[in-house]
Amino acid sequence: MAATLIINGQSIEAKAGRSLFDYAELLGIDVPTSCRKQGKCKECMVEIVEGMDALSPLTEPERHLKGKFRLSCQACVSSDTGYVRCHTMRRGNMRIERHALGLPGTNQAFHLDPAVTRDGDRILIDGVEVDHSTGPIHGIAMDLGTTTVVLRLIDLETGEQIADTSFENPQRFGGSEVMSRIAYDTSNPGRLLMRTLAGYLTHAIEKFPVDPTTIYEMVVVGNSTMRDLFFRQNVYSIGQTPYRSITEIEMAEGKRASSSLVDTGLRCLLPIHPRARVYGAPIISGHVGADAAAAMLAVNLAHEQRLVAIMDIGTNTELILGNKDRILAASCPAGPAFEGGAIACGMPALDGAIEEVAIEGDGSFRLGVIGDVEPEGICGSGLVDTLSELLRTGRMNDKGRFEDDVSRVTLYHAPPHVQSGDVFLLESDVNELAQAKGANVAGLHVVFSSYGIEFDDVDVFYLAGGFGRNLHVEASKRIGLVPSLSANKIVQAGNIAIEGATIALLSKSKRRELEGLVKKAEHCRLETHPSFFDFFVEGCQFKPVEAIPCAN
Ligand code: FES
Repeated sequence: MAATLIINGQSIEAKAGRSLFDYAELLGIDVPTSCRKQGKCKECMVEIVEGMDALSPLTEPERHLKGKFRLSCQACVSSDTGYVRCHTMRRGNMRIERHALGLPGTNQAFHLDPAVTRDGDRILIDGVEVDHSTGPIHGIAMDLGTTTVVLRLIDLETGEQIADTSFENPQRFGGSEVMSRIAYDTSNPGRLLMRTLAGYLTHAIEKFPVDPTTIYEMVVVGNSTMRDLFFRQNVYSIGQTPYRSITEIEMAEGKRASSSLVDTGLRCLLPIHPRARVYGAPIISGHVGADAAAAMLAVNLAHEQRLVAIMDIGTNTELILGNKDRILAASCPAGPAFEGGAIACGMPALDGAIEEVAIEGDGSFRLGVIGDVEPEGICGSGLVDTLSELLRTGRMNDKGRFEDDVSRVTLYHAPPHVQSGDVFLLESDVNELAQAKGANVAGLHVVFSSYGIEFDDVDVFYLAGGFGRNLHVEASKRIGLVPSLSANKIVQAGNIAIEGATIALLSKSKRRELEGLVKKAEHCRLETHPSFFDFFVEGCQFKPVEAIPCAN
């Protein structure tokens, strides 16, 4: 007898006593590690989707983990029968948006003037010598998201992009959204979130096709919590009203002139040059972080005459509205539902994720699956399509209730030989999605009404982020995730935060512009707006968002 073990979709017969790490190795799956199964590095985490009962009990090195997470070098199969399904924290290649699309062409017309320069064999950062070398000079732009991490390697002398990579943020073991990460970091000593991420970043950087010690600068953007965790700041205050980063508090006390952060490669535990500068771009305010700031730089907002909106839908949706004269910014605590978190069959946009859904005339589902493999789950764009199609065909009403009192709609029935199981949407999933949508829509209403304009008054509506790039706009409009604007106003721009980080890496003057933009942006606090709750309730319904409702 043997148990059936499925790791990252690959199946193997497992005998009691051997670790999940051992079986991953047998399957040829690359498990992140720096300690070779010693229980020390904490990098070999796996998420147990099914079959926790068939595993050995938690060990001492795993005491920082709870819920469905285990260290694969510690968790052993404990039964010769049963079924365990799990995946590593880096379970495949994430789809990378290599270039942002539809940005104003002029924004690239900046002079290449990186902070890192060469004078003979001297390498200088802002004129201060940090190394002697005649080799190349590289830099990294990083977008550190709650769910996804994106890195770009850049030649700082030519501005050319050499490589890029992307992976799921392994800090997920501390919770899927920022508030749980703050709670985790506050109650667990040892900076485990930062150290785990640093381990994954180290592996990613070491895989780049250059000597890591030729990397002399790194620009980090991300929401306030992700950025501050990375720089080992105390994040407690971001989780408490009035939700302020420690850097913002210090600015208000006159202790610093900018909310940006600076450290060295060595102190950030990265394999780049030890004296490399790691620059955390400034945040706007509260949860509106450095990623939103970088997005403003990427769309050239400092010089923009037109009225533009930027919506980056994610665990924390960021909204920016304005032009060179006035900018409003807000953050909506949408939660991870549209990124597949908190959804029974949700998953990131990896191979096996259903990304397109249509309901045929006979009621059957036509599915588009990333990687053209058997479906394993549904990613964000697939969820939007599913809701839109259920609504269009009357199988779900605008309150998110399924017809005929069913509680589950099955998109994919797995054939008996496929172990990965059916893929379905529960009515409780729809409820999660409704609440995430409600937060986003409430944010839109608050920001636009605070600016004193209607949705239709914007000239360009950028949908930012990997999710915004891949969702189907008509489906999103039907369920009311984005406003019902004419198609020519909506630009699915992709990851503009990494674009902004790259610009800040390559140009000192643009970096100064970024610092100026952040000071100019007014933070719109959703939670204190008198109509927020009404807007939220309205936004939980699956219907087009056309105008700002009258709250009274
Ligand atoms: S391999 Fe390092 S903790 Fe498991």
